[in-house]
Amino acid sequence: MTDRRLNALFDPRNVAIIGASRDGEKIGHAVMRNFVENRFFGQIYPVNPNADTIMGYESYGSVLDIEDDVDLAVVSVPPAVANDVIRECVEKDVNAVIVITSGYQEIGGDGVERSDELDAILADGDTRLLGPNCLGVWDAYSGVDTLFLPSYKLKRPPQGQIAIITQSGAFGSTVMDMLAEMGVGVSRFISYGNQADITDIELLEWLRDDEETDAVAVYMEGVSDGEQFIENAKRITEEMPVIMLKAGKHDAGKQAISSHTGSLAGSYQVYQGVFRQTGVMEAAHMEALFDYARALAYNPPLDGKRIAVVTNGGGFGVLTADALENQGLQLAEFSDETKDALADVVPSYGTVGNPLDLIGDADADRYERALEALKDDDGIDGIIVIPLLQPLPLDSEVVDTLVNFQEEYGKPVVTCMTGSQFTTLHMNNLEKNGVAAYSSPARAASAMHALYRYGQWVHRDD
Ligand code: COA
Repeated sequence: MTDRRLNALFDPRNVAIIGASRDGEKIGHAVMRNFVENRFFGQIYPVNPNADTIMGYESYGSVLDIEDDVDLAVVSVPPAVANDVIRECVEKDVNAVIVITSGYQEIGGDGVERSDELDAILADGDTRLLGPNCLGVWDAYSGVDTLFLPSYKLKRPPQGQIAIITQSGAFGSTVMDMLAEMGVGVSRFISYGNQADITDIELLEWLRDDEETDAVAVYMEGVSDGEQFIENAKRITEEMPVIMLKAGKHDAGKQAISSHTGSLAGSYQVYQGVFRQTGVMEAAHMEALFDYARALAYNPPLDGKRIAVVTNGGGFGVLTADALENQGLQLAEFSDETKDALADVVPSYGTVGNPLDLIGDADADRYERALEALKDDDGIDGIIVIPLLQPLPLDSEVVDTLVNFQEEYGKPVVTCMTGSQFTTLHMNNLEKNGVAAYSSPARAASAMHALYRYGQWVHRDD
């Protein structure tokens, strides 16, 4: 069972910002600004012994001076004083503390001593700690945002179903910016740094029980505790897909890790074994991480290999057929009933087949009727739809068609669209409505394969 104190990271009643700075250029100021300007409805307590007020809020000399119980504290003071203020948080029994400060085990020497001291401080109470050396949390629902990166430089994504857990703040935050641009919704973002206390697996457990999250994308350098991970990860992946990008697979990357978060990268072969054993889906690179996460967050698992492909661009149908075969998937054989229904949809100058070419003059209505004809065919396990928007007859209505169809179909649907601005706008609209949109047949087929692999995992017999 997850520690209820972890709830304070995501939806705190109030927040103390320790090191809230008067200086607009400083990290503690940026964090304070986020809370003040966001839709955060809890009380905000800046803590800074050198200031009377910060952004118009009364400043406290210490967290101990706050009369109220404190739910969440964010620490952005220099390493020389960080443990002192954390000790005060433990004394006050603050539920959770996010420590942005760097200078712990990742720097070796003094940093290791500081980390040991931190362990001893935490052992004295029940306060839970995220970090140190992290960006902390962004929560799409509560308005918690400890990312010190201003929103004019780093867009925040819309509310959505994918959670991100990252050991690298830089990786996680820049991909948030990228996802925001793509219209991809995120539920919670957690940068956990050195994981001195709260571990990757605890965060995954919390997210499994989170109603807003349907899949988790993880960037990991080193697991906190191998045995704990193996023991628990399986129970998580059975209920929620976990997709992982493992960093530090080779010697050069491993060395870089020790000075980044101080983790042990471990043998990549061992990790691969752990992933197989626990149902964690490995993504080979950053694009794949979110290609899989989107498909898995929006769709049920794929229960078989038989895929229907529907397009208004013949060449894209052919490329998708090839891409599916590359992934070990296959084109579905349509039933006679389906073929008869499709004969009324495809114009006389086209043919009924799979891939189903609706011809370059297809409009949204033709897509709708074609999808309707495929809907009840038991020989189809999932559909890839490729509505190319360049021809005149196909307009924005096709987005509604696809969104509505996915809602009622109950089996996986992914889409592929290739093009520039006009196309990207529609891809964004699909994503905002929870329909995965990929820019190439190969990516769409590989996302379908991720759904297949997840289906194999959840329906396995052991
Ligand atoms: N309690 C509360 N506030 C205190 C304090 C205390 N005991 N002692 C000092 N402060 C105040 C300072 O007065 C200052 O406010 P002011 O600017 O209004 O005077 C504020 O805390 C910040 O202290 P400062 O000394 O200016 O530190 P800084 O902002 O330059 O650096 C960190 C602090 C945490 C940002 C820095 O040490 C650090 O670790 N940076 C790296 C962060 C990072 O990259 N993390 C990982 C991300 S992935």
